[in-house]
This record gives sequence, C-alpha cells and structure tokens, in this order.
Amino acid sequence: MAAAPFWPCPRWIAHRGAGTLAPENTLAAFRLGAAHGYRAFECDVKLSADGVPFLLHDATLERTTSGRGKAGDQPWAELSQLDAGSWHSRLHAGEPLPTLAGLARFIQANGLQLNIEIKPTPGQERITGQVVATHTASLWQGQAVPPLLSSFRPEALQAAMQAAPQLPRALLLDTLWPGCFDVAGQLGCTALVTNHLLMDADLVARARAAGWLAMVYTVNKPDDAQRLLALGVDGLITDAVDRFAPSPG
Ligand code: G3P
Ligand code: MG
Repeated sequence: MAAAPFWPCPRWIAHRGAGTLAPENTLAAFRLGAAHGYRAFECDVKLSADGVPFLLHDATLERTTSGRGKAGDQPWAELSQLDAGSWHSRLHAGEPLPTLAGLARFIQANGLQLNIEIKPTPGQERITGQVVATHTASLWQGQAVPPLLSSFRPEALQAAMQAAPQLPRALLLDTLWPGCFDVAGQLGCTALVTNHLLMDADLVARARAAGWLAMVYTVNKPDDAQRLLALGVDGLITDAVDRFAPSPG
C-alpha cells in the first residue's frame, strides 16, 4: 500500500468551530474560534437528500435547528431555510446551516486548516464518504494543505479512500474495538483520533510504530490537556477555545 498522505497536525483544533460558545457547526462558530486565535477546526458533515454536503452533528434536526425530523431526508433547498442559531442564543438567531463549500471559502480565505468528520446519516455511510471526499478534493484543489477526513465509520473512510486516495484520513475511536488497528492500517490512515480517555503511553507508542499521528477529542480540562501533552499527543480537539490558547505547531 502507498504511504499514508501527510497532514501537518496542529496542536490545537477547535471542536465544531468554537465548542459551545457559539452555535456548533455554523460559520458564526468558526469566526469566533478564529477570533480566539484558532487556526484549525473540526466540523461534522453529512448529506442532504439531494446530495449536498453540509454541516450538522446529529442525524436529526431538533436539537440544533428550527427543523424537525431526519436531516438526510430533506433537500438542501429546505435545509438552507432553517435557523441553526436560535437554539443557542438570540444573538445568533437566523444563523443558517453552512454547506461544506461555504465553509471551504472561509477556511481558505483565512489560511486555516480543517478536520472534516464524515458523520453519515445511519445507512448512508458509503455514499457520504464518497461524496464528501469528492467535494473536498475539488474544493481544495491547488491548496497547500488539504483537510483531514475522519470518521467513526470505516465504510465511510473506505469510500473516501476510493474516491480521493490523496486526502489524509483518520479513524475515530471511542473504544478500542477488536481489529481497529488493522482497519486503520487497511484504510491507509494518517492519524488515529481517540476519545482522550483512551490515550495512554502504549497507544501513543502503537501509533508512532504504525506511522500514525496520535490525536484526541474532546479535551476541555487543563489537567487532561497536561497529561496528554506530556504523553506527546500530536493534536487535541477542544471545545474550550476561551481556555486553551493555541500555539503554532
Ligand atoms: O471529531 C472528533 C469528535 O467531534 C467526535 O465526536 O460526537 O463530537 O462528533 P463528536
Ligand atoms: Mg465531530
């Protein structure tokens, strides 16, 4: 298998734009994270019913938008009309759901880095991986640093690998399920991104031996950050953009 694509891993990555300080996965959140000095961001991307990649964490619309039901059942023309800000605060009323293309414009105009978590509507793992990878390759064509594509779902990463093998990939792990390291190898991963509670010296050593970056989510407490940095993890995804000052590298 070819060597895994390189990705220059930032030390600190703002989760869903700015954690909980702004409505998650909206442009307002990425603007706020950038205002706090963040140069790298994580976001969650899924597909509308007509195949448009857009930002949303949940499979359903209720928690973070004015809509109802399964997001993946609705066409972009309807999703684009929803209010994705009022649930958070009145200041953000009317904030729309962003498309991946819209976020790409903001990221590139400001010279930022992105980790796109492929978050498929259940049952749409392969098509989501394929479409997100294809769009990402086209949106970032000619850019020096592509986004890192991550997912908890190996099928999504496999489809992404087939569609755009040149894009770096990461397997997300909430548990160390049997065979997960073999799967990360078969997927040509550049990184493992684990729940920070799973990360220890053995896991860092295992990642190093395999040539993977060791990354963690979601680190919000200073004590946890100190432990993880002492272990030598490469990248920390955090909600606490007002607590941790990102330093370069
Ligand atoms: O990508 C890291 C992290 O975002 C994974 O969990 O549920 O916050 O998307 P979740
Ligand atoms: Mg995520």
